[in-house]
Amino acid sequence: GGAMLIPLERSVLAAGQSRIAESALPAPFSTPFSKPPVATKVTSVGTTDYYSMTMREQAAEILPGRQTRIWGYDGVFPGPTIDVQQGREVVLRQINRLPASHPTLGYTPFTSTHLHGSASLPQFDGYASDVTYPGSWKDYRYPNFQGSRTLWYHDHGVHHTAPNVYMGLAGMYRMHDAVEQGLPIPQGYYDVPLVVTDAMFDVDGQLLYDDDDHSGFFGDVVLVNGRPWPVMKVERRKYRFRILNASVSRTYRWQLDSGEPLVVIGTDAGLMAAPQPVTTLLHGNAERYEVVIDFAKYKIGRRVTLRNISPKNNVDYTHTDKVMAFDVVAKASTTSKNSVPSVLSPYNAIMALTPTADTPTRTMALVRQGGQWTINGETWADVEASAYTRALANPALNAVEVWEIHNDSGGWHHPLHIHLIDFKILDREFDRNGVRVAPRAHERGAKDVVHVGENERVRLITQFGPHPGRYMIHCHNLVHEDHDMMGQFSVGEGGYDPITTAPARPLP
Ligand code: C2O
Ligand code: CU
Repeated sequence: GGAMLIPLERSVLAAGQSRIAESALPAPFSTPFSKPPVATKVTSVGTTDYYSMTMREQAAEILPGRQTRIWGYDGVFPGPTIDVQQGREVVLRQINRLPASHPTLGYTPFTSTHLHGSASLPQFDGYASDVTYPGSWKDYRYPNFQGSRTLWYHDHGVHHTAPNVYMGLAGMYRMHDAVEQGLPIPQGYYDVPLVVTDAMFDVDGQLLYDDDDHSGFFGDVVLVNGRPWPVMKVERRKYRFRILNASVSRTYRWQLDSGEPLVVIGTDAGLMAAPQPVTTLLHGNAERYEVVIDFAKYKIGRRVTLRNISPKNNVDYTHTDKVMAFDVVAKASTTSKNSVPSVLSPYNAIMALTPTADTPTRTMALVRQGGQWTINGETWADVEASAYTRALANPALNAVEVWEIHNDSGGWHHPLHIHLIDFKILDREFDRNGVRVAPRAHERGAKDVVHVGENERVRLITQFGPHPGRYMIHCHNLVHEDHDMMGQFSVGEGGYDPITTAPARPLP
């Protein structure tokens, strides 16, 4: 309430763009909720499952009665959910049949598919410059030896990741294991992906995009699984929601309007040691949180809404404080897998690491320099100029290190993502005042993205492995990543070359 409204045409839109009338948008909580489709495998051979997806343009009804042009894996946004069992390898064929150019930006949509959260070999990691042009394909091999977790696959094409993902190239990937499946937590039908993005539409219902001088993209319509402010019918029982912030730049802070807690049970890299009930939850780009909501607390007929109370980047628009609603419509049809134990059993081994006096420490400073977003003063252009050899760090294979992430770029937060590894957040220092405080309750699990607020310093501990090679580190505000806040680190000596080992091939 009382938010300042900045005219969109002035703050964001480029010349010639105009936004759809607010009256053409659906009222919040009037669009039915839906889950993304589940991917079906093409075949299985031994312990390997084969999938194939075609990236293509498709018309989707996002706003009532309008057809919006999207780019989707198999033509859907979000892409099909891939469900895998730990220990089964996946080969995912990605066929690029996107059009020759982006409808308004004009670039050629080459792609590189990253499975975010997977310790993939370098040539299958979606290295930004390992690109697949329209008319080509590439097979990605995913090892799936890690424990149960919520991953996601998304485009990572160099300098075009933000518009490619915004057009729809993102989907969820759930890794299951026997420990998770043995817990009494909600599963199956009650394990629900929530892929949250923000969008802006032009008068014809097409996606509008403008990165506001490389600072970020902030839409005025919140989409959950590609639906604007949807409403979901729920039973009086517990549900597990896997919330993925797949937005280009927007950070959210979740809260239930009922005042009841969100019970966080999982972070980026799997289940936590113990559930963390929170009343608000800060959720940066690319982070995944598994959250249980107990609808048994409400009577049938009650509506509960999930709000976004992030004070930042939220003032410009009318409805980005709304996200989705849950209508409690029925009693529980089953009460199995309907509890949250106080111990969620074996958590990620990375959580057992603690620094010693001998643990090597490195600093990664996030700074804007001469109009460029940089890490330690370097950009992806520096990596390109070095024929992809230049690295910000060269940890030994299996080395344990502490990394200190400094955000000295006043006025901006940066969700920093490190490929390959999981990490534990040790502590955070606000305002460079020398006082280190514990990570927030919901961050006390294994992570691969950390939200680094203005003037914050965050310390992480991790182990670099299990294989050598060059991997990216970047800001996951996709606009910052594209311009050009991305570098690489090199684990150990050698490793497969990320670009030349398994190049894309032309379609016949
Ligand atoms: Cu989710 Cu390098 O990205
Ligand atoms: Cu950033």
